Amino acid sequence: MKSESELLESARRFSFGGRMDKSGSGPIFVRGSGSEVEDINGKKYLDFNSGQMCAWLGHNHPAIVEAVADACDTLIHAHSSYYNDKEIELAERLGKLLPDPLQKSMFLQSGADANEAAINIARKYTGGFEIISPHTSFHGMSDTTRSLTFAGWHRGYGPPQPGMMAMLAPYCYRCPINLEPETCELACLDASFELIDAQTTSRPAAVLTEPIFSAGGVIEPPTGWLSELKRRCEDRGMLLILDEEQTGLGKTGATFAFEHEDVVPDLTTLAKHFGGGVCISSVTTSAEIEERVIADEFIVTHSHSNDPLACAAGTATLNVLERDDLAGKARQLGGYFRSKLNQLAERFEMIGDIRGRGLLQGIELVRDRRTREPATSEGRTITDQCLGDGLIVSVRREGSVLRFVPPASTTEEQIDRAISILEHALYKVNR
Ligand SMILES: Cc1ncc(COP(=O)(O)O)c(C=O)c1O
Repeated sequence: MKSESELLESARRFSFGGRMDKSGSGPIFVRGSGSEVEDINGKKYLDFNSGQMCAWLGHNHPAIVEAVADACDTLIHAHSSYYNDKEIELAERLGKLLPDPLQKSMFLQSGADANEAAINIARKYTGGFEIISPHTSFHGMSDTTRSLTFAGWHRGYGPPQPGMMAMLAPYCYRCPINLEPETCELACLDASFELIDAQTTSRPAAVLTEPIFSAGGVIEPPTGWLSELKRRCEDRGMLLILDEEQTGLGKTGATFAFEHEDVVPDLTTLAKHFGGGVCISSVTTSAEIEERVIADEFIVTHSHSNDPLACAAGTATLNVLERDDLAGKARQLGGYFRSKLNQLAERFEMIGDIRGRGLLQGIELVRDRRTREPATSEGRTITDQCLGDGLIVSVRREGSVLRFVPPASTTEEQIDRAISILEHALYKVNR
């Protein structure tokens, strides 16, 4: 096997560099199991980012390995104009898991193409074309979804698609209109819809939002925001698309994050950990919406739509979700992890806010709790120190938010270990 330096040399010459880590210095991962991954030098890391948030079941989960092996023995890929058995099984499982009337699913590859398909359905159904998304959103990096990824990564790619609008996200720790959540009465929604109504040139087709803004900085909307958003969409004949790609399938302590608010969207998308590490995404909507857009000749299909191997992995994930009560695990482990973060916040003034649900948690770092000046460079130093000490976390909002997504396979002992690595890194920047 090649050494780390040989592989890095090869990567510098042949691997495209457009990735978030610009250092080009490794680590180079070679294997993983449960909540740990190992690099080419045999160093082990606690993976509190679940890979790219796709290994939330745990790396190389046996149920996924078995489902993939079975598909390899039967059918890996199929003609997507016809049905295959694995796809039908998964659609039925998902349709029964989701609340009524969400029932009809299609399976694609990435989170971006699922969101894009949902947008296309909303456009066909409403006859409008405008789509609105909160200013801390991340929905993908295809042209359409990048135009709605207001959390960043959209500058310098040419004009966004026409009809894409930002609304104010309910980022209560840094309220964009300087109000307090206890007394604001969701004034950010009033301001947003005043602007939307003023700008629209046709009927807006939909609002696309995450129930908790993950990449934007683990931002949790206040109670009531989502249901009020849905009401305002209905008033205007717009659909509500909920991007549950990070938050769905148990991670926040409920099967779907929209259950925390008892809101059922018109469309919802899944991706990320849906395939337990295998690439699959989905769009689900009601039979009524599906019938109407199909009658209007709606079609979205890609070479790997509804592939049996990916769908088998999706069904295996839903089996694990139900059999092992992953939502319950996320509540229990998330509660334990949160209590440890609370203890750290008592010791380190730099932790200005702790947010998130279940096993999607984040801390916002500030230079001063009163002024809330973001501690961006400090956050990046802490992340690097954690990586060096064997803990993978991701850094958001230019460095001031650290996000933790430990896999459901994580033990309390692994959480304790992660906390002590984080504590050491916090101590080093605060000394
Ligand atoms: C909420 C959300 N939606 C969509 C996407 C895009 O998914 P993909 O990278 O699979 O296209 C992401 C990716 O991080 C995401 O976090």
